[in-house]
Amino acid sequence: MRFAASLTLRKPRRLTRLLAGPKGNGALIWACTSRCGAVAVDTNSEARGTPELAQPSSNPGAVRVLVTGSTGCLGPNVLEALAHHPTAGASSTYTLSRNSPESSRHYQLDITRARCLQEFLRTVRPTHIVHLAALSSPSVANLNPDLAWKTNVEAVGTLATYAKDFGARLLFASSDFVFRGDLGRAYTEADEPAPQTLYGLTKLKAEQCILHHGGMVARLSLLYPTANDPMASLARFSAVDNNLMEFRAADDEVRTPLRPRDAASAIVGLLFTELGGVFHLAGPEAITAYSLVCRQVAVAGLRTPVRRISRHSLLPPNRPHNVSLSAEKLHRVCPDLCFSKVVPSSCTETI
Ligand SMILES: NC(=O)c1ccc[n+]([C@@H]2O[C@H](COP(=O)([O-])OP(=O)(O)OC[C@H]3O[C@@H](n4cnc5c(N)ncnc54)[C@H](OP(=O)(O)O)[C@@H]3O)[C@@H](O)[C@H]2O)c1
Repeated sequence: MRFAASLTLRKPRRLTRLLAGPKGNGALIWACTSRCGAVAVDTNSEARGTPELAQPSSNPGAVRVLVTGSTGCLGPNVLEALAHHPTAGASSTYTLSRNSPESSRHYQLDITRARCLQEFLRTVRPTHIVHLAALSSPSVANLNPDLAWKTNVEAVGTLATYAKDFGARLLFASSDFVFRGDLGRAYTEADEPAPQTLYGLTKLKAEQCILHHGGMVARLSLLYPTANDPMASLARFSAVDNNLMEFRAADDEVRTPLRPRDAASAIVGLLFTELGGVFHLAGPEAITAYSLVCRQVAVAGLRTPVRRISRHSLLPPNRPHNVSLSAEKLHRVCPDLCFSKVVPSSCTETI
C-alpha cells in the first residue's frame, strides 16, 4: 500500500503524524514528496509501531548514525561494518542518496539543496555522520565544476555546521587526489596537500571545513572492488576498446588501492573513537593502474591484452603521478585492522 502526501521537512509535526499513521498495514511505504524533493520511508519492519523518525529526540542518549552516499561503491560496505560493530550494531542507522529505491530508513535527498539538508538533519538528529556522498569521479567533476563545488564543498559546510551545533561526530571521506603526486614516496598525514585537479581541490576545501568544525577526515586511496565481479572492476579501472578487444590502463599513475570492505571497517572503527584530524586509508601496495588491470585480467582467466597508456591521455588533465598513501598512523591507532592486497601479486604482468 502506498501513500503520497505533500509536506516539507520544515513541518516536523506533520511528518510525525504521517509517519506514525495507520498501524498494522503490512508492507506500508510512506512516500512523501516535499518542496525539497522526495523523502521516503519504508516502514515495512515498523508497520506495527511508530517509526523512530517520528520521535528523534525521545531518547536523547540514543546513537543515530547517518550514512550519506550509502548506495555507492563504499556505502554498502560501511552499512555492513556498522551492523557488526558493537556500538553501532545496536544503534539506528539512516541512509541518504538521491536516486536509490525507497527502503527502510533510506531517504532520497539531494545534498546540494542546502535548506532541505538542514531540515533533514534537524529532523533526524544524527549523533554520528559518515559522509560519503560526493561527485566522486575526477573527470565528471572537471566537466561539471559548479555541481562538483555544490556537492563536494557546499554540502559539507551544511553537515559540518550541523555537527558542530548539535555535537554530532562527523567523518568525511576524502581522496588521495588532494596531493600533487611528485613526492616520490607514500604521502603521510603530515605532508602538504596540493591538488592538481578540480576534484582534488573540492576534496581539500571540504577537508578544511570539516577540520575547522572539529570533524574527522579519512583520506582514501583508490577503492578496488574485486570480490564479486572482476569484469565490472576492470571496466571501471581501464578503458575498454571492444573493437580491438583490449584493455588500456595508465602505467604512470600510482595508487595504493584498497578493498571497500577494508576501508569500511576502518571508517566505522574511527567513527567510534574520540580521535580527530586526518587519517590515511590505503592498501599495503603501491601499484600502477596498468599492473592492477594486468593482474586482475590474469585472475579472471582472461586472455584479453592490456595496453599501457599514459595518464596524460586520460581525463581530467593533470592527473597526479604517484599519490600512494601511507596508512601507518591508522595502523598504529587501530592495530587490529588488516588490509589485504586487492589482487595477488603472483599473477603475471606480461600480457
Ligand atoms: N571510489 C574511490 O576509489 C574513492 C577514492 C578516494 C575517495 N573516494 C571518496 O569516497 C566517497 C565514497 O566513494 P564511492 O566510490 O562510494 O562513490 P560513488 O560510488 O560515486 O557513490 C557516490 C554516492 O553519493 C551519492 N550522491 C552523489 N551526489 C549526491 C547528491 N547530490 N545528493 C545525495 N547523494 C548524492 C550517490 O547516490 P545517488 O547518485 O543516488 O545520489 C552515491 O550513493 C566519496 O566521497 C569519494 O569522493 C572514493
